Amino acid sequence: MTIKTATFNGVATIEIARPEKKNALTQAMYSAMAEALIAANSDALVRAVLITGQPGCFTSGNDIEDFMQAPLGQDGEPPPVARFMHALLQCEKPVVVAVTGAAVGIGTTMLLHCDLVYVSDEARLAMPFVSLGLVPEFASSLLIPALLGPVKATEKLMLGEPFSGSDAVECGIANAVLPAGEVVNHARRMAERFNALPPSAVRETKRLMRAPQRAQVLEVMQAEGQLFSQRLRSPEAMEAFQAFFQKRKPDFSKF
Ligand code: COA
Repeated sequence: MTIKTATFNGVATIEIARPEKKNALTQAMYSAMAEALIAANSDALVRAVLITGQPGCFTSGNDIEDFMQAPLGQDGEPPPVARFMHALLQCEKPVVVAVTGAAVGIGTTMLLHCDLVYVSDEARLAMPFVSLGLVPEFASSLLIPALLGPVKATEKLMLGEPFSGSDAVECGIANAVLPAGEVVNHARRMAERFNALPPSAVRETKRLMRAPQRAQVLEVMQAEGQLFSQRLRSPEAMEAFQAFFQKRKPDFSKF
């Protein structure tokens, strides 16, 4: 089981559990996470959602083999990754995240759509889309420049520079850095605080806070998604994916 779910004391936990592949997310895992978010949203006993990974690794992002094999949805259906993204955007309840280590690609971009983000002192965030021959996703091409300003965004989105948990706090992606052994418990305690709050007021406040950017976020996600799908089949991306599995540096000199 690569996605574990459990509901306890008002908190629906979604745990990414594929440590042997550094929690790389397959299509099946995105589907499971989408379903868990949809179920949590409609369960009256759930007051908040908690997303966690494994010690030392939150997620290494999209499974690169999946990128190579099944890049698009079948039969006109949206791909599982898109279902996950929309389920997260549509979750009316607060989503709290504990980033336990590496948070690559969607491991970082999903944080932009969560409500409270706690990072461990071992966290290493990165959005190496360009290095993989791809383009940013999950509206990160809109939200990262808005948070960091254009020149810092260039470091993260074009050069793919990794950054620490304290950098993430400084630029407003995360709330606080915690010792690695404490980050999940802290995030859970924060999620449980919603048990004592009036749920409709919480939901309406989340909706109001997200509403001004919502249409733009969806528009950018659509534009990014189209380009991303095209780029998944590009020779640049193929070179990057093959290089990853051959454990060598990609060679883009021929493009
Ligand atoms: N997709 C598929 N497999 C992945 C993966 C991914 N995103 N990330 C890691 N793995 C696999 C590795 O291929 C390796 O498999 P193997 O044991 O069969 O060789 C295993 O997980 C362990 O990964 P490894 O790279 O040895 O671990 P590490 O601790 O040295 O580095 C990361 C961890 C996360 C920094 C590194 O794995 C990485 O950069 N992964 C790719 C991240 C990425 O580009 N994701 C896509 C973003 S859009």
